[in-house]
Amino acid sequence: MEPLDATAIFGSGGRRLIGRTGEVLQVVESTMDTARRRAARGAPDGYVVLAERQRLGRGRTGSWHCPARQGVLMSVVLGLGVSARERWLITLAGAVACAEALRHFGPDVRIKWPNDIVVAEKAQGLRIRKLGGVLVEQYQHGDAAPVHILGIGINVNQDRRHLPAGTPVPCTSLKAELGGRSVDRSAACVRLLDRLDFWYGKLRRGHPEALLARWRTLSCLLGETVRAQVNGQTVEGTVLGLRATGELILRLPTGRDMLLASERTTLLVGSTRR
Ligand code: BTN
Repeated sequence: MEPLDATAIFGSGGRRLIGRTGEVLQVVESTMDTARRRAARGAPDGYVVLAERQRLGRGRTGSWHCPARQGVLMSVVLGLGVSARERWLITLAGAVACAEALRHFGPDVRIKWPNDIVVAEKAQGLRIRKLGGVLVEQYQHGDAAPVHILGIGINVNQDRRHLPAGTPVPCTSLKAELGGRSVDRSAACVRLLDRLDFWYGKLRRGHPEALLARWRTLSCLLGETVRAQVNGQTVEGTVLGLRATGELILRLPTGRDMLLASERTTLLVGSTRR
């Protein structure tokens, strides 16, 4: 298992902000915490923390597990001042960048709202396997403007037997999707940082429309009939689109449109919880 190559990852040049500087660590609790500490000590916008292993990796709804040197475990310090309503756009930029970067290696990688990076197949409904995910946390250091930490976890070179089992959405890795062929993780990081740099640049210049348009082409849910649990109730409908503030628009059988907020919704599409 090749180690991550910091020179290849951060030395590629050409980026405006994201991934111009960063570090590769061997073991951390969570790259989110390391990145937060780096931000508190003045790390610049776009500073990247990568780790070969995490002891306490966290996901949006629980923990994040990945054997040493088999995945991408990344956190990025983002100094962009966005309002709470716009914070969602950072998740979106992360998800779009991941999908674009990973598609380069072959699989038809897509985004499952709100933050899952997946491979989706249409066979008796939508069957989804999760390749990775995106997590955004916000920190306030004294009187300074809030800093966001964008966390990204991608399953790259795990064999099927080393993937977490019993997860709500079955897990996969790039290697598993490629019939057992390993992927150069440093090359994956370079592509990912290049795409993040591009989309973060759009956000900084105040152009979220292009990001939303790209999401539409990468979503595995658009036009699909899905079931969702919202505040304990199960609803079914067709996905019509996404609002700039992050809610998924669902057309119910009655013809009424319903807005799904990610904090209150569990999508049952592709889920083993049926
Ligand atoms: C999810 O799908 O729930 C998001 C998973 C995000 C995991 C990454 S791994 C790198 C970074 N450090 C963490 O502790 N979590 C994120």
